[in-house]
Amino acid sequence: MTDNIDSILHEDRVFPPPAGFVKTAHIGGQAALQALRKQADTDYEGFWAAQARAHLTWHKPFTQVLDSRKAPHYQWFSDGLINISHNCLDRHLATRGDKTAIIFEGEPGDTRRITYAELHREVCRFANVLKKMGIAKGDRVVIYMPMVPEAVVAMQACARIGAIHSVVFGGFSVESLKDRIEDAGARLLITADGGHRGGKIVELKATADKALAVGCKSIENVIVLERSKNTIAFNTQRDHWWHDAIKGVSEHCAPVWVESEHPLFLLYTSGSTGKPKGIQHSSAGYLLGAVTTMQWVFDIHDQDIFWCTADVGWITGHTYVAYGPLATGATVMMYEGAPVIPHGGRFWEICQKHAVTIFYTAPTAIRALMKLGDEIPNKFDLSKLRLLGTVGEPINPEAWMWYHRVIGKERCPIVDTWWQTETGAHMIAPIPGAVATKPGSCTLPLPGIAMDVVDNSGNSITEPEQGGFLVTRKPWPHMLRTVWGDEERYRKTYWGEFGGKYYIAGDSARRDKDGYFWIMGRIDDVIKVSGHRLGTMEIESALVAHPRVAEAAVVGRPDDIKGEAIFAFVVLRGVRPKGGVDAALTKELRQWVTEQIGPIARPDDIRYSDNLPKTRSGKIMRRLLRSIASGQPITQDTSTLENEAILDQLQGKV
Ligand code: PRX
Repeated sequence: MTDNIDSILHEDRVFPPPAGFVKTAHIGGQAALQALRKQADTDYEGFWAAQARAHLTWHKPFTQVLDSRKAPHYQWFSDGLINISHNCLDRHLATRGDKTAIIFEGEPGDTRRITYAELHREVCRFANVLKKMGIAKGDRVVIYMPMVPEAVVAMQACARIGAIHSVVFGGFSVESLKDRIEDAGARLLITADGGHRGGKIVELKATADKALAVGCKSIENVIVLERSKNTIAFNTQRDHWWHDAIKGVSEHCAPVWVESEHPLFLLYTSGSTGKPKGIQHSSAGYLLGAVTTMQWVFDIHDQDIFWCTADVGWITGHTYVAYGPLATGATVMMYEGAPVIPHGGRFWEICQKHAVTIFYTAPTAIRALMKLGDEIPNKFDLSKLRLLGTVGEPINPEAWMWYHRVIGKERCPIVDTWWQTETGAHMIAPIPGAVATKPGSCTLPLPGIAMDVVDNSGNSITEPEQGGFLVTRKPWPHMLRTVWGDEERYRKTYWGEFGGKYYIAGDSARRDKDGYFWIMGRIDDVIKVSGHRLGTMEIESALVAHPRVAEAAVVGRPDDIKGEAIFAFVVLRGVRPKGGVDAALTKELRQWVTEQIGPIARPDDIRYSDNLPKTRSGKIMRRLLRSIASGQPITQDTSTLENEAILDQLQGKV
């Protein structure tokens, strides 16, 4: 299986932690880090128990640390009682009530600052609204909202009463929203009239109405936030304006104490087969991952202004917008819109205006902004920045160096953080006051995180520069607990190889001579387009749902800005268009996929052929399609192809 895992990247530059940074860092210097690692290595459970006692506020302390009896359904701190919203809000009220919790900037330029005391009040009021609508502990609530503070209020309000939220990214369209609502069996939908994105209004309510018209029978009520003030349809039996619902509602709401393992949320993400799966996270263990990494990796301090640009619809927006920053009492920046509206310097303008000190974004954004030239960021005062981060896909050394030089002014460490929806929080990342960085490497696993690279037989690869499977050898507190409603898929996907001994991340990686990890990409049929995770199967299913499409195969091809672009090979019902080109149909299919899944899944290229390349056993030769899509010469053995003549069609030659 590892034959195709060749390592191609070589990078020798090393950037030690700046002395000034080390001085004030939570973990400043090697000795401090080694001490932490030693604790984790000598007493793994004791280490995590100590972290959980130090960083979380418990209603009832736990006595049990890790319970492996139901492995791979590991349980952490299971006899403790906790409330996540209490940990994010109430515990700061005495010391930080007047401190700004959220700074918000809308795409049109409107801004708001919300203190911890105000946020606490809003969350309590909204939690009472949820209760009035009959929502109780364990009920599922779908949140389909723009990137506005109310999205965080809704998430925190669910957490306050033990309801399980499932946030659906606002860029998803009807089918995706419907599937997620139905899979979760949600009783309530929280949405908005619209959101501002890319200079346009994203019509969230209209999409929600369509989803509800074709299914979603479990939904009893819909709460609608007024944000963009566009005209929407309103079903007075089912729909309630947010501002009406909270009128006269008490701002006191006692937290519901839940077991550590109580599900805090579901978040749907793509896999290599089937529909997206509902990744289920716990309460206490999840929050512990969020808090420890806020301190270790982001080195969060009270005076920091922390800005993670991710939407709350993704795991990054859960852990590093809605939960981690608040649990550490930080000030978190939220921006509603696109990075280039109304101009290419919007991100840097926000950094200047709100004195952002820690900035975390995706390589795809860095590459897009880099393309616009140095003059744009150079116009803004970025002197408050002290730490930069990246997440979501491998960062190419060129983009890393630009980020370092032009944004960080060679002063700010860069934390390249490897993690996944499933891992809940950072797993491999530099601790900026202790670990030297190398452009393109996420460096070393965090204390208490047992990452390894193994070969086909599950043996650790100790030789440098040899690629293998990225695995985790021990359960960790913020790991996923299961796939909602599909135990079998959980076991098979994550624990199905190597005798169930390791968590399988689905990535390939190599280590260099210093033990630094270099992520090489996915080993399954998942592609990363602008850092968004998409299953090629999902896009194929959307394509074949079109009446003119008989078969489809989707692969990723390298793209300068997006990392990967989507290339679809399509077999039509009836005749293939002349020369394999049909601009009108291509336009229609692209629009079709947008409607089915969302704009992020729209194919960049579509090529028509009479057949797909299959082996005699009927398997699509995806590696061959990947080579063709990226314009590489075909080196694979094509003699097993059922129909070798189609190669010319696939290559667009005839
Ligand atoms: O392939 C890895 C890539 O993103 C995948 C996880 O995607 P998702 O669940 O959407 O979560 C993204 C945000 C945490 C991983 O399997 N990935 C994530 N971070 C990095 C990365 N690849 C390389 N370097 C990273 N820092």
